[in-house]
Amino acid sequence: MKCFEESLAALRQRLGAQPEFGLVLGSGLGPIAEEIENAVIVPYADVPHMAVSTAPDHAGRFVAGTLAGRQVLCMQGRLHGYEGHPPEAIVYPVRLMKLLGVKALMLTNAAGGINTGFEVGDLMLIDDHINLTGKSPLTGPNLDELGPRFNDMSYAYAPQLRSIAVQAAEDCGIRLRRGVYVGVNGPQFETPAEIRAFRTLGGDAVGMSTVFEAIAAAHCGLPVLAFSMITNMAAGVLPQALSGEEVNETAARKGGDLRRLVCRVLELL
Ligand code: HPA
Repeated sequence: MKCFEESLAALRQRLGAQPEFGLVLGSGLGPIAEEIENAVIVPYADVPHMAVSTAPDHAGRFVAGTLAGRQVLCMQGRLHGYEGHPPEAIVYPVRLMKLLGVKALMLTNAAGGINTGFEVGDLMLIDDHINLTGKSPLTGPNLDELGPRFNDMSYAYAPQLRSIAVQAAEDCGIRLRRGVYVGVNGPQFETPAEIRAFRTLGGDAVGMSTVFEAIAAAHCGLPVLAFSMITNMAAGVLPQALSGEEVNETAARKGGDLRRLVCRVLELL
């Protein structure tokens, strides 16, 4: 746990107020951090033992400050397995947030729509996930100080927070979809056959993040609320190829909806 202490010391030295909520911004959703008032910016590179994000459009920094009247610690840009980061490096900042005393973690991501009832630009509340990465951030010796060896995942996506999200969407006039997020490694998009298989398994959206962070949060007792922006329909749903540009274009176009939703959730928390 020595590494955590060194990271925490570096962060505490820079941060002002005690953060209440953690917020992780997914692909193309970084601009939400620009709304944070009295922002203190700490690049990941300035935090000892933190890996640095290399994904395009992921700024790679903590932004701490006030959003919707609450103290937030935001990750503008997350770490992904496809960048070569091991799962435990990806969840390192989640554990830091827990140790800093945040009460809940909000995760956002860009995802492909598997559910054919969804439309590009929709927001989906993640009710549960299916981890198809074949990996876990909890592999290896258990960090007993953080949580148990065999931790429960039944309520990882906290029911109480999900109820608040539904209320927040209603207040904002946003049609909120709900469903199961399938986590994959990437970086390639899926094949149409994979998407048909994921649909049979019960998946509604697919993406390359979030599941490790949710697992680590559940392990250390940090309640999670997670939203997917459906930036594209998954492979084979529409008769067209997928591209990273489409993901970023939709995220940029519809990011305002997610920002309003996140802010309303913060007000209701
Ligand atoms: N597949 C996997 N990850 C994604 C997708 C997708 O279609 N869209 C955005 N992230």
